[in-house]
Amino acid sequence: MVRNDKRSLRKRPTRPVKVRLHQFLSRTGQFSSKREAKEAVWSGDITVAGSVIKDIAFQFNANTKQVHWMGQLLHLPGLHQTYVLNKPRNVICSRLNSQERALGKRSVFALLRDHVDDSTYDRLLTVGRLDEQTTGLLILTTDGHLVHRIASPKSKVNKTYAVTTDQPVSASVLSSLRQGVSIELEENGEIRTYQTKPASVEVEEDGTVVLTLSEGKKRQVRRMFATLGFEVVGLHRRSIGELNLELLDLAEGASLEMDERLLCQSIFNES
Ligand code: URA
Repeated sequence: MVRNDKRSLRKRPTRPVKVRLHQFLSRTGQFSSKREAKEAVWSGDITVAGSVIKDIAFQFNANTKQVHWMGQLLHLPGLHQTYVLNKPRNVICSRLNSQERALGKRSVFALLRDHVDDSTYDRLLTVGRLDEQTTGLLILTTDGHLVHRIASPKSKVNKTYAVTTDQPVSASVLSSLRQGVSIELEENGEIRTYQTKPASVEVEEDGTVVLTLSEGKKRQVRRMFATLGFEVVGLHRRSIGELNLELLDLAEGASLEMDERLLCQSIFNES
């Protein structure tokens, strides 16, 4: 059993190295020359574990200390980066096209822009998607294999949503949601009817419906409620597998870099 709290989930080191600061900087690929990397140190633009370091030969453990260049976290190349985000409303889970930009849409990727280097930013993918109006737990990673491992229908990873509806739900509605309902899906330009798989459904004291699905068809939660005559007025993803947003203590729009191995242990409850 993995401790699913914020401290245990923070990114852990994987490379057992003590390096000199100028060597580390040169290897990040962020500087056009060794000289430029050294000058960044001498100018006081580099911090190691939060302290400005002006000694280019400073030795530190790159596994345990974070290096920032003018506020930007630096990484050695070749490793993947993975983040969890508390997605706010009114942001979309894709890169913006020109039409979306003209409409003033915002993208989840922009929320990580100031926290990652250019290469990481360009390679980031979302693990599945949340609708523009849905809030809550979203994973972003540069590792396509991780996306597949979590989001593939074969993985059957549970996703738990807190659903607020436009009117109270009755016991018979809850029973229908549990058993599965018929929704319409659009696939390859064609509409087809789909019977949702059995789900776990609870109601909290304030009327919030907590729904856990092991599948993830497009807009599935909204479609399941719409089929039963309800409008979803609030939708928030609380957890993916055993990874629970509440335990990560992230404000809306905030993100946290996580070690991929620990993330998988949390999601799949592996020891
Ligand atoms: N189901 C939905 O309908 N929307 C989401 O964003 C996620 C699940």
